[in-house]
Amino acid sequence: MDNSIEEIKRKIDIVEYIGSFITLKKAGRNFKAVCPFHNEKTPSFVISPERKIWHCFGACNEGGDVIKFLMKWENITFVEALKELAKKAGVSLKNISFEDKIWKKKERYLNMNLLTAEFYAFLLNKDKYGQKAKSYLDGRNIKQATIDKFQLGYAPQTWDSLRLFLKKKNYSDEEMFENGLLVKGVKGGYYDRFRGRLMFPIKDGRDFVIGFSGRNLNDVDKQAKYINSPETPVYRKRETLFGINLARESIRKEKNAYIVEGEFDVITPYQYGFTNFVAIKGTALTNEQLLLLKRFTDRVTLTLDVDVAGEQSTHRGIEEAERLDLEVKVTRLSKGKDPDSSIREDINQFKKDITKTIPVYDYLIDSAQHRYPDGTSFSKKKIAEEVMPFIERITNPIIKSHYIKKMASVLEVSEESIGSMISLIKRKKKTEGVFKPKNKATTKEDRQTLIGKYLLSYIFQSEDPFLVFDRVFNQLQPKDFYLVSHQKIAEIFISFKKNEGRFNLDKFVSKLSSELRQVFDELYLLVSINEPLKEDSLDRMIAEIKKFSILREIKLILESDESKSRKQELANLSKALKEVEKTLMS
Ligand code: CTP
Ligand code: MN
Repeated sequence: MDNSIEEIKRKIDIVEYIGSFITLKKAGRNFKAVCPFHNEKTPSFVISPERKIWHCFGACNEGGDVIKFLMKWENITFVEALKELAKKAGVSLKNISFEDKIWKKKERYLNMNLLTAEFYAFLLNKDKYGQKAKSYLDGRNIKQATIDKFQLGYAPQTWDSLRLFLKKKNYSDEEMFENGLLVKGVKGGYYDRFRGRLMFPIKDGRDFVIGFSGRNLNDVDKQAKYINSPETPVYRKRETLFGINLARESIRKEKNAYIVEGEFDVITPYQYGFTNFVAIKGTALTNEQLLLLKRFTDRVTLTLDVDVAGEQSTHRGIEEAERLDLEVKVTRLSKGKDPDSSIREDINQFKKDITKTIPVYDYLIDSAQHRYPDGTSFSKKKIAEEVMPFIERITNPIIKSHYIKKMASVLEVSEESIGSMISLIKRKKKTEGVFKPKNKATTKEDRQTLIGKYLLSYIFQSEDPFLVFDRVFNQLQPKDFYLVSHQKIAEIFISFKKNEGRFNLDKFVSKLSSELRQVFDELYLLVSINEPLKEDSLDRMIAEIKKFSILREIKLILESDESKSRKQELANLSKALKEVEKTLMS
């Protein structure tokens, strides 16, 4: 197994590979980027082509190889990522048996879903049972090519067709139930969840069928218009966007994703060439969905039904998008209530409407005005409460002052009172005390760790680590480093220098245990995200490490019972301390 993993890593160029997902910038011998796994503005994500690793020094503080990257990117297990990369690298994993239970189950359930989608599609397209659903689609103007593209299907009006079909494929009732395809009756028996419905397979970005939704064929039914898979081991609603599998490439190309409500609002536009639409399926826009989109675009366009525009959930979605630094635009359709009906009414008007976006702030103001139209002081207060938090957060002063003016005129108050409202919101936010994670070294201990990391990072990132060797180790011993792992790395480096004529990174790393290798990889990348050091700072770093080391030693002696008998030692240490402090002062 080890061999094929090494082969995969060798064959895949990590810079090129990660670069196909995110934008990289050269930083010395490494590359850096804005971390795709958390929200940040300045890059703290670094890749080393030599070590074939990456690390995020920001909120994630995590790193690894190309396999780990794909695991995190796609939110998949090690084996899944390995399989995908093996395929890409053309490496065979045939002789490896995987003891990954979670993946085995997932794979089994995904396969069950695929068979189910095929079963439903067959019934829709080839079977007389599907006739009614077929003519329903016909009535909505959906063409055969579109039906095939989305793999639409039909679940027959029976209690156990799917169950019996999957039973023949060796799936148990319990598995089908856990995978959301069956429902448990009051007496404990199982029956098909989807009956007599037009079926939409819900797929993830990599084309796996993760769940289903099914639509009634007539709106007069008492039953829900749509029913959906529940949460299952493979379906997580919060992370899902209907249509993402077909839309992801055009979202990337167009640098924009239209976010719509329902299945047909993805399907109908797609049929007419609007291929960057995804649906949230009538739920709130979540952080997870936005993070998914952020991988492909920095801009999203909300194209939501008018009636949901003012909902709390939409507001939260917009807030989330702001936090992720996604530019949010909004479109309004002049005909029809959603993209599907709008296209069917007047496709040319639709085309115009979706390119005419309005800024999200105007949308929020309009929507609030729409719901509180009567001009009473109560309504004005409501409008202000809803919209002002968004205006307060605008960072661009020109845009902000524009909306302050607009709000003043909408509420018929002075700009000053809008201004004081903003200060009020600011104050409130402060007293509510948002906890900010401390990522700067604040305590002494942190500083000791960090400075050691920096020094080692500096050494190993320099053009030739052997050239700075003397300067460092004439003044320092391994024990001067605070962390034992750093001490060990220093020791190994010293003996490496004794035995080798020139520095070779791979050879050096091969001398490290796997635990040390992890420590090394992280510190190795550290200097890439920071300013290059000035000439004198190497000496300052050395002095600082020395200072901490002396302080530790003094403390140790003072805390022991021998502080009297070791007076001379203490005096020497104090003298040495003064020396390094002098260096640090200069
Ligand atoms: N929805 C759902 N469950 C329901 C109702 C709606 O999951 N009981 C989801 C569906 O994805 C639906 C979306 O919410 O597409 C929006 O609902 P609605 O506006 O009522 O329906 P439309 O999208 O217009 O559906 P259609 O065009 O098929 O009538
Ligand atoms: Mn509709």
